[in-house]
Amino acid sequence: MTVTNDIFEVMDTCRAMRRLKPDPVDRELLEKLVHYATRAPSAGNTQLWGFLIVDEPEGKEFLGDLMREQFGAQFQVPEGNDATARMMRAVADLVNGFDQVPAIIFPCVANGYPPGGEPNSMFMWSTIYPATQNLLLAARALGLGAAMTTFQMANEQLIKDHFGVPSDVSIGATIPVGYPKGRFGPLTRKPVGEVIHWNGWQS
Ligand SMILES: Cc1cc2nc3c(=O)[nH]c(=O)nc-3n(C[C@H](O)[C@H](O)[C@H](O)COP(=O)(O)O)c2cc1C
Repeated sequence: MTVTNDIFEVMDTCRAMRRLKPDPVDRELLEKLVHYATRAPSAGNTQLWGFLIVDEPEGKEFLGDLMREQFGAQFQVPEGNDATARMMRAVADLVNGFDQVPAIIFPCVANGYPPGGEPNSMFMWSTIYPATQNLLLAARALGLGAAMTTFQMANEQLIKDHFGVPSDVSIGATIPVGYPKGRFGPLTRKPVGEVIHWNGWQS
């Protein structure tokens, strides 16, 4: 099933979906993603977030050019059929066709907590990433493909300048959104037995 309200199924199948159809995504759905993103907790409930959504050709072309410039020439796509090679090919396809992505969401956040004191960037990042994960889960629940990426890191200032993001606001992630070409499915993760340390880190 593509659309699901079952939160456990959503979490179990929320893959990074990098291959997206070019079909447009209604703004109503994009607003819904931001609605659920902003149900997340934030430091002191300060909610110093903002969501830049790019769904018009000019902005997408700007981002596409930037991505190709950043990765284009030096993007080494590995041969083979192992999981990493397949993932890197999907990343390359996403980068090369970035202007065809229906919408790109940049979860952004200001560094303003604690108020009245010296802001600590730990609170800024720990505010924007729960919201970003909520957004990814909401996309999965609605049958939309999305992926957590940090593509903005190499060009953050250029992106901020182009879209008028205020200087005191940082971009936390670059989330391509569209209808997926592939299927949602099980995730490859370590078993919980490997990552739990009951009452101490003995093993
Ligand atoms: C902090 C962080 C940074 C990431 N950066 C990128 C990225 O720049 N490009 C990308 O395609 N995927 C990126 N990802 C997605 C991961 O590659 C992906 O979640 C991981 O390989 C597991 O894949 P799966 O979620 O499909 O199981 C990032 C994920 C995280 C949490």
